[in-house]
Amino acid sequence: MIVASNRGPVSFGEADDGSLTSRRGGGGLVSGLSVAAKETDLLWVCAALSEADRRAARQAPGGRLDRAGHDTGGAAVRMLDIPPGVFQRAYNQIANSTLWFVHHLLYDTPNAPRFDRRFRRDWEAYAEYNALFADALAAGAGRDARAAVQDYHLTLAPRMLRERRPDLRIAHFSHTPWAPPDYYRMLPADIARDVLEGILGADHAGFLGRRWADAFMDCCEAVLGAAVDRDARTVTHAGHRTRIGVHGLGTDGAELRERAQAADVRARRAALLEATGGRRLIVRVDRTELSKNIARGLAAYRELLTVHPELRGEVVHLAFAYPSRHDLPEYREYTAAVQRLAQEITDEFATPEWDPLILEVHDDYPRSLAAYRLADVLLVNPIRDGMNLVAKEGPVLSERGCALVLSTEAGAAEELAGDALMVNPYDVTGTAAALYAALSLPEEERRARSARLAAAATALPPDRWFADQLTALD
Ligand code: G6P
Repeated sequence: MIVASNRGPVSFGEADDGSLTSRRGGGGLVSGLSVAAKETDLLWVCAALSEADRRAARQAPGGRLDRAGHDTGGAAVRMLDIPPGVFQRAYNQIANSTLWFVHHLLYDTPNAPRFDRRFRRDWEAYAEYNALFADALAAGAGRDARAAVQDYHLTLAPRMLRERRPDLRIAHFSHTPWAPPDYYRMLPADIARDVLEGILGADHAGFLGRRWADAFMDCCEAVLGAAVDRDARTVTHAGHRTRIGVHGLGTDGAELRERAQAADVRARRAALLEATGGRRLIVRVDRTELSKNIARGLAAYRELLTVHPELRGEVVHLAFAYPSRHDLPEYREYTAAVQRLAQEITDEFATPEWDPLILEVHDDYPRSLAAYRLADVLLVNPIRDGMNLVAKEGPVLSERGCALVLSTEAGAAEELAGDALMVNPYDVTGTAAALYAALSLPEEERRARSARLAAAATALPPDRWFADQLTALD
């Protein structure tokens, strides 16, 4: 069994003395695969993301981090030392600035995208990056083995791998939403085809929700003229049939609860209680990611305080917005805009006794867990999101039961809509009203909803998510 993803389970930094420091962890994809890696005998192929990663990859025999004594959480990991120029163009320009934008509908279309000569050069780098992965997978996979290729960074790799190793059973899994055909067709026609045909090189293409799987099949039909059987969930194109699967990803409740009892979380819980004076808490935890819609969330909080002055002094918004993709100017600007907006809210409402908003931009996982424990309301309002694990982790950890204000455009809505307060992410007034309704829920109802949300959130733990994909591949 072999898996491939851009980000692996461990990344490296450089200490002051020049030595390498390592750090485990990552988003839903990495935690999902890390859990699976504990259960299954697999080789995990990932890319070096930074100069320190490249050093670690070069120093390890055959790039095998586990054989160089690094803590990989028990997984056999091969980190690919991809030339920095190729990596930057593939990751920043194509994966994160193009495919991510397309699937999350993020373009300001009067101005972007612009598919010009430079874009073509970037696209070549993306193809090269995918080919390097396909080579590594072809070299590392045993006879008739299964290969599970992850996410939008690696859409071309399944087809390339099939050409190199027709004996393998290949799966691709998308952790993002999939764009509807009218938006997807913004891509130049040949590239729109290449991406779909790349994924269709797999025997099984998995998605986090039905909506994204349907959109993918719609694109295959509209762009490729492929034969789509929606009932059987198959796409047949160029003589090859790909099964389409829906595999939701949830959280491992037992592990999360145990982690949230640790001393570092307890210390942060006490500090948050102190800082917020035991007031009612509206919590959000996100990467500072354009699709997470943090700015409209802050605008909704501002409107809440404007329309309901009785809440002033009674409630605090904890907004954790952690650094992400800072190589991209849009993300740096977005972070600055979030900080400006937060300052405006503080200037408008703060009193000597009351800080209405605490914005934290430095990543602190135990502090996030502490905030989940204390939340009265959890705000998860993305423009569009493959799943969103925050919406699932919050209810699992909340001590008094939290009300979840959730975007209809998050994949998690498919599983959680019944007990969340649903919002249109663009509707600031609607979001403010939902925050108010969430704060006003009778305690018993809030607890009952939160318990059902926690049950739904833990119904599909990562090991099940991965095992289901393997079963579907067999
Ligand atoms: C999303 C993607 C993952 C990615 C994560 C963090 O969840 O689906 O593939 O790893 O974001 O983004 P980053 O660019 O920091 O890896």
